Amino acid sequence: MGCFHLTVTSLCFVVVVVGVLPLSLDAQLDPSFYRDTCPKVHSIVREVVRNVSKKDPRMLASLIRLHFHDCFVQGCDASVLLNNTATIESEQQALPNNNSLRGLDVVNDIKTAVEQACPGVVSCADILTLASEISSILGGGPDWKVPLGRRDSLTANRTLANQNLPAPFFNLTQLKAAFAVQGLDTTDLVALSGAHTFGRAHCSFILGRLYNFSGTGKPDPTLDTTYLQQLRQICPNGGPNNLVNFDPVTPDKIDRVYFSNLQVKKGLLQSDQELFSTPGADTIPIVNRFSSDQNVFFDAFEASMIKMGNIGVLTGNKGEIRKHCNFVNKKSVELDIATVASEESSSEEGMVSSI
Ligand code: HEM
Repeated sequence: MGCFHLTVTSLCFVVVVVGVLPLSLDAQLDPSFYRDTCPKVHSIVREVVRNVSKKDPRMLASLIRLHFHDCFVQGCDASVLLNNTATIESEQQALPNNNSLRGLDVVNDIKTAVEQACPGVVSCADILTLASEISSILGGGPDWKVPLGRRDSLTANRTLANQNLPAPFFNLTQLKAAFAVQGLDTTDLVALSGAHTFGRAHCSFILGRLYNFSGTGKPDPTLDTTYLQQLRQICPNGGPNNLVNFDPVTPDKIDRVYFSNLQVKKGLLQSDQELFSTPGADTIPIVNRFSSDQNVFFDAFEASMIKMGNIGVLTGNKGEIRKHCNFVNKKSVELDIATVASEESSSEEGMVSSI
């Protein structure tokens, strides 16, 4: 009986282990995933990003944001990169992305360079993740070992992009909820908001704060009055949709200044200032900690970026390794065939045609 019990127990154990193991192994990312298949991937990505950022320092910020906007919509699966086709409704035209996302061409340049070295091996989702870590380093922020092995989605979801990406006018409760949906906690919210230590925002996202906060006809009271005047100069009411630095002090650097700005009411978006100006909020001590010690912020940023990079990843035999980041492979094949066909017909007919 004891033996029977033992056998059943161990059988159950085997079933449980066999049942669970493949799943958990499947979901496992690994920093050395491309060690044998594309050992130089990190340096290839770094070279492209470094070259672009010499001419366009803001690109570092844009690439980190692209990764965030990918991960919050059906996971880090490069769905944000898919263009509109007959079957794909691109996320790029979702409200938070439209006329705002940057870096899509840079990702394509990275992909071209990576494909040259190791064709068909590295996913676009991993390229976005690697480009983010490299952008952090080049922006003066932390480096970390990037878990890799993500695969690319076969679909995009514009509705989910509109639903899941937090808005700049969110209050703290709404921000926490948007992060909780992704399995991210309050510390992640504060640490990742720290990405607003660099980059730019369009005036349209702060006009309400400057001229008519929540329909009061007055500016946001949690905005420093000198900073308010400066922002009004850059963003006149009814004027052009100019760009404004997130960090007026060190606009292109990842550092703790974002948090010290919040302490003196110089957060740019309402969602930024909420972290410090919501009365009694548990985010206030976190802001204070990050502001007083940059290493504490960097450690938290690294941990939360890795956590964000793990959201809803496709591994194993799910999804695919896209050939071109803007199209699923089936579509890429059609495009290749179309190119070949048009090239053949153009050489026959002696005219240049393009798709
Ligand atoms: C907490 C909720 C967040 C809200 C409401 C928010 C909202 C925004 C908005 C409205 C912009 C300006 C876009 C434009 O004007 O074109 C922006 C820019 C940016 N966001 Fe966020 N964001 C949030 C969280 C994050 C997170 C988690 C990251 C990355 C980890 C991030 C990284 C960035 C960066 C780097 C920029 C500047 C991009 C550039 O200059 O091209 N944001 N964000």
